[in-house]
Amino acid sequence: MKKNHLLTCLLIGLAVTACSKPKIFTPGEPWPDNNGVHINAHGGGMLLHEGVYYWYGEHKVEGPEGNQAQVGFRCYSSTDLHSWTDRGVVLSVMPEGSGSEIEKGAILERPKVVFNKLTGKFVMWFHLEPKGMGYRGARTAVATSDAPDGQFSFISSVRPNAGQWPANYPDELKTDGATDNGSVYSGGSLPDSPDSLKIVARDFAGGQMARDMTIFVDDDGKAYHIYASEENSTLQIALLSDDFLSHTGVYYRFFAGRFMEAPAMFKHDGMYYLIMSGCTGWEPNAGRSAVAPAVTGPWTELENPFRGDESEVSLRSQSTFVLPLPGRQPQFIYMGDRWTPENPIDGRYIWLPIRFEGRQPVIEWMDSWSIIPGL
Ligand code: DGJ
Repeated sequence: MKKNHLLTCLLIGLAVTACSKPKIFTPGEPWPDNNGVHINAHGGGMLLHEGVYYWYGEHKVEGPEGNQAQVGFRCYSSTDLHSWTDRGVVLSVMPEGSGSEIEKGAILERPKVVFNKLTGKFVMWFHLEPKGMGYRGARTAVATSDAPDGQFSFISSVRPNAGQWPANYPDELKTDGATDNGSVYSGGSLPDSPDSLKIVARDFAGGQMARDMTIFVDDDGKAYHIYASEENSTLQIALLSDDFLSHTGVYYRFFAGRFMEAPAMFKHDGMYYLIMSGCTGWEPNAGRSAVAPAVTGPWTELENPFRGDESEVSLRSQSTFVLPLPGRQPQFIYMGDRWTPENPIDGRYIWLPIRFEGRQPVIEWMDSWSIIPGL
């Protein structure tokens, strides 16, 4: 009897192994969740917690009004990165007219969630534009939760590092009374060198502009907020407090005049990497990449990491996150958005393997691919 039972188990095991299909990723195609609904988590970020992946992103709705927050941020969970279970809206906008900073119609973008081991809290940072301000608010906001799938409670928003100069800012630029000419720059080249506009000085008292962003937690447990600043003309990298809830006033600025958006940071072989985009609104542009020996630099710009016919438009995508897969192939997944601003809910996800040519991260188009477990 025992022998028969063992044989049956073996046969079932073999059948399951033979039948289990590889999980195929098909970039740019609709990606149904457990309810058969296209995943709604744009500008997203990923958290791995206790063996479960959580994907957080912007919940978009149909039509151009979907470019402002009508619902909030949504969360999905998965153990294989392929099949996703909808965990619902984890940060909701407040009703119109409530006066809340996260009122319906504000702009809430690029949520990133990290777990703080000291407090046991899940901490979400995101880009916030108060309602009616277009992108002039340039604020960053924080929310917390006791569980990875929410609910997150909104705490506050801020323009970071008020009253502090960047740690790597030249003394000769530390002037009061910025000479900014009052214009707002959001892309392309500044009329003069960005430093001559002294945007850091202009924003010294009130805090630095903070738009597209990510959060990176280093191996020593320190967390950094990486954000497009100074009218998008630079990227600033700021150390967060030990509880991840505020800025410490220690921050650095890089890539002056390069107009980078959509930063995604990862670590490989002891070096730190950034993948980013240029600034052309919802339209894709040529990607950027950079490498550094530490989060706080010095950063060296590398090449456009995208290859192939559509490399100049980043394979029609814009970066949002890079997910490490230690011990598996690929070792890193590029996560990007293919935006559809005329109908934002239909935005597609471009997930592709990252490989390295020397120190240069490289991303090439694949119609389909899968993760190879355990090397
Ligand atoms: C590009 C940014 O990366 C997006 O998150 C969004 O802010 C659009 N610009 C708005 O045009």
